[in-house]
Amino acid sequence: MLADLSGETVAAATAIADTHGIAALGVTVDITRPNEVNRLTEMVVAKFGRIDILINNAALTIAGGGARAAQYFAPFEEYPLDLWEEALHVNLTGAFLCCQAIGKVMVTQRSGVILNIASDVGNISPDHRIYEGAVNPHTGGPFNTPIAYATTKAGLINFTRYLATYWADKGIRVNALSPGGVFAAHDSRFVDALAARIPLARMANADEYKGAVLFLVSDASSYMTGANLIVDGGRTAW
Ligand SMILES: NC(=O)c1ccc[n+]([C@@H]2O[C@H](COP(=O)([O-])OP(=O)(O)OC[C@H]3O[C@@H](n4cnc5c(N)ncnc54)[C@H](O)[C@@H]3O)[C@@H](O)[C@H]2O)c1
Repeated sequence: MLADLSGETVAAATAIADTHGIAALGVTVDITRPNEVNRLTEMVVAKFGRIDILINNAALTIAGGGARAAQYFAPFEEYPLDLWEEALHVNLTGAFLCCQAIGKVMVTQRSGVILNIASDVGNISPDHRIYEGAVNPHTGGPFNTPIAYATTKAGLINFTRYLATYWADKGIRVNALSPGGVFAAHDSRFVDALAARIPLARMANADEYKGAVLFLVSDASSYMTGANLIVDGGRTAW
């Protein structure tokens, strides 16, 4: 079940179903709205009868251009309150609502695995010098990691520990994955500055987290809960 604010999940689920010959559904959901999350949960149970895995992956990120993108990368002194609050809603309240609704099903089953996608910058502050002179390719304006993003990802890591201990006796494991930055259409000055702070000397490729995700949602990690697996090319080791 692929759930996202974007309607693209429907086509993505169809492609997965066709390619792999499995049941897959895409649904448009705003995870900050309790009614929509509850409806999603009911749909999954109606379709599949149970819920084994929840991956909280959605986050407020602003791709592309426009005024909102310019605001999203505003300096802290001018950071818009509405974007700060929106990040709290999507990145933390969204995970809260999904865990609450789907966790109830898992408690009844007395089994389940939850994976919260955090970030390397939930463990460390970014070195702000990596953004010096970096340009957002879409707006031509500044590019950085906004404070709301890093703060909510740090919050998600302790949210993970809390639920892991809270549900340990219910057969539910809860872990976090902290990925490092995935290379996309970034300013080369930023890429070079970031790579210089990563022992493996590069950003990640998009497919380099699937092994970690599979590990954390499967019985391969059966003795693991409340953990935060950092996969970041060594960035946080320096
Ligand atoms: N890409 C990276 O470099 C990187 C690095 C570290 C961590 N992460 C984390 O990995 C995860 C995926 O990142 P990505 O790069 O694929 O980001 P992305 O922006 O491509 O995907 C985020 C998704 O969240 C969805 N979303 C936003 N608000 C929502 C809401 N209210 N309800 C439902 N869905 C909503 C968006 O529609 C989007 O599809 C995120 O949690 C991100 O913080 C990404």
